[in-house]
Amino acid sequence: MVEPFDWEREFGRSAPRLLDVGSGNGGFVLEAAALRPDRDHLGIELDAHHAAPGLAKAKALGVQNVRFIVGDAVEWLYERLAPASLDELHLYHPQPYDDPEVSRRGLLTPELFERIWVVLRPDARIYLQSDHRACARYLFEVSERGFEREILSGPWTEAPIVRTRREAIALRKGLEVTRIQGVRRAVPLELPPVPPYFGGAARRRPTRSARAKAKA
Ligand SMILES: C[S@@+](CC[C@H](N)C(=O)[O-])C[C@H]1O[C@@H](n2cnc3c(N)ncnc32)[C@H](O)[C@@H]1O
Repeated sequence: MVEPFDWEREFGRSAPRLLDVGSGNGGFVLEAAALRPDRDHLGIELDAHHAAPGLAKAKALGVQNVRFIVGDAVEWLYERLAPASLDELHLYHPQPYDDPEVSRRGLLTPELFERIWVVLRPDARIYLQSDHRACARYLFEVSERGFEREILSGPWTEAPIVRTRREAIALRKGLEVTRIQGVRRAVPLELPPVPPYFGGAARRRPTRSARAKAKA
């Protein structure tokens, strides 16, 4: 049995807690930590190469209220983050995998959103964002059960206005960025089950791995 992440021991205090899932280069979580010293921040990124700049910058700047984990956020959400232990969850630009096999292991599943509901405290907030239309629609749909949410009509109101590296890239390319914010419902709605995200695989050319599997 793995020990749950001990926020109080790690940060040496009891403060509101923010998690950034798939934090990439850590730009958002680092800036959020600097702007809100009264909160503790955790970024979890699967890819060590992506995470390296955030780790280095946090160390260089000596920001006390942020930690980065190189690891699988899905495992962390199930195994290391205790129920009712988080005040905010941010998920920006999750990869919209087209291959159902990969998609099932990813961040875009109804089960993960149920778990997110469990690890968040009453009245906690979620922030979701994507520049991929089908993925944004999915985020909105899959979050309905546990969260009262809305699509923002413009940019985030508070700084940092452009939150992440992927958001900056999307805006440079002229892609539409969908921003969703929500508050945890006290009781999840009874709704028909939503399938995991398949990225419109049926409409698109299958990925290389899906083609290889089909041939085997
Ligand atoms: C498109 S990038 C977006 C990064 C950042 N959130 C941003 O908006 O710039 C998606 C990130 O999610 C990470 N990721 C994918 N699955 C993950 C998982 N299970 N746990 C943690 N990170 C994951 C990827 O490695 C990648 O860095």
